[in-house]
Amino acid sequence: MNDTLPPAALQSVAALASDGAEGSDAAEGSDAAEGSDAVEGSGDVRSDVRFARSFREAAPFIRAHRGRTFVLWLSGAMLEDAKLVTVVHDVSLLSSLGARIVLVLGTASQLDSEHSANGSQVVDEPQLRRITENVGAARIRLETLFSTGMPNSPMGGARMRLASGNFVVARPLGVIDGVDCRFSGTVRRIDAHAISSRLDDGDVVLLTELGYSRTGGVFFLDSAMLSATAAVALDADKLIGWVGGAGVTNERGVVAEMSIDDARRRANRMPPGKSATPELDRFLGACAEACEGGVRRAHVIRAADGGGLLGELFTRAGAGTLIRAGVFEGLRQATLDDLPDMMALLRPLERDGALRPRSQAELEQTIDRFVLAVQNQSLAACAAVHLSPEDGIAEIACVAVRAEYRDLGFADALLSYCEEQCRASGIARLFALSTQTVHWFLERGFVLGSASDLPSRDRSRAGGARRSKVLIKALG
Ligand SMILES: CC(C)(COP(=O)(O)OP(=O)(O)OC[C@H]1O[C@@H](n2cnc3c(N)ncnc32)[C@H](O)[C@@H]1OP(=O)(O)O)[C@@H](O)C(=O)NCCC(=O)NCCS
Repeated sequence: MNDTLPPAALQSVAALASDGAEGSDAAEGSDAAEGSDAVEGSGDVRSDVRFARSFREAAPFIRAHRGRTFVLWLSGAMLEDAKLVTVVHDVSLLSSLGARIVLVLGTASQLDSEHSANGSQVVDEPQLRRITENVGAARIRLETLFSTGMPNSPMGGARMRLASGNFVVARPLGVIDGVDCRFSGTVRRIDAHAISSRLDDGDVVLLTELGYSRTGGVFFLDSAMLSATAAVALDADKLIGWVGGAGVTNERGVVAEMSIDDARRRANRMPPGKSATPELDRFLGACAEACEGGVRRAHVIRAADGGGLLGELFTRAGAGTLIRAGVFEGLRQATLDDLPDMMALLRPLERDGALRPRSQAELEQTIDRFVLAVQNQSLAACAAVHLSPEDGIAEIACVAVRAEYRDLGFADALLSYCEEQCRASGIARLFALSTQTVHWFLERGFVLGSASDLPSRDRSRAGGARRSKVLIKALG
């Protein structure tokens, strides 16, 4: 799930990415293709207008990602050629929008499954030889793809440089429980300064699952953990990884957001060798590690989703699972015991006119609609969600964040939580009535509506004395 970007601009960015992109998964079956028709001058006024609108809407996305550092983990599931081509196109697009990209290549999925089958971490000499051959081949393939600049492809006009080298210093794992792990290693140091210089020059940096020791040895590293270590060392904004299979799912489908604790629990739920999804487990463990190390957000996307990276980065709904630090650990239903703290939060905002006044009696009667974000054992933020399954719509109201906790994503987290509640109840639309926060909602996928969009009992509240605006969001 995405966290920073307003909706719809994906279409324009994807249109840029897929302009003439024959065979690009990212473009297939999306409106992007229509956008690219418009670029080519189809003469179709409607598609020209649509393209212009989406292109304008792309501006906030482009701004949001410029100068940000993304570490992308490419597991064995992504090394199939068609998927790799899509990744290179998307990375090239992101890079040309000013994002700083580090790719971490994990080729050893076969070794992963051998390891997970027997719980061992031993890498012997033939295995190391096989890994070095695979890494070499994958690197050459990537360098080839990044060098391609056919004018009628998404790489047209791009001058992409892929920088790789001895950026990772490794040491052997050594003897664990009496077993010599031989060529299995762990990261000792990452040359973040050298990597940053390459990123400053506009290069895409490639790290592989091989690290080099001071004594002249080569060691195999867990690439998922390497991606987490690199993300922390580089102070990255996001760690993103592709996994095979269905991704992170529950009975309702793909899980949109997880806390660090949940990611860690899920990563460790099966003993080594017993998990059916070793690759996903490893990456979830890496995500938890990265977020605990200070990376604000980690994302799991599915290898099978051709446009997954763009979907995750350029749509608010996102395409995969977001793992993030902080607020989600502290979200809970309100109880009557919370009333004094809630009133302390709400009253000043009611006086300023930002919120509609609610009496204590009203708060008591509707207490079970409130969700609270708690930080350092005190109330940081609240929101109320009123579900009307019979009307197929819900209202989010009374979103309030204490001043010292603003701009940290608390309101975003509350909104995501409320959206999840709606989806779980089969509700497809969410509305809000707002006076001073209209743009906050617009930037999160709401559009301006009118009283007629609301259930009849709420219509009189639109406009009204507060002259509130109606905002509606269709939940995907
Ligand atoms: C609006 C409010 C809920 C946002 O809470 P928050 O936790 O700071 O929000 P997030 O961290 O998720 O988002 C922060 C972003 O929203 C923007 N934002 C904050 N208030 C905004 C407003 N009134 N209009 C538009 N954008 C706003 C911030 O500038 C920031 O943008 P940036 O990331 O580009 O810098 C909070 O400012 C608040 O409590 N305001 C007073 C109560 C209120 O008006 N509630 C809405 C009732 S419907």
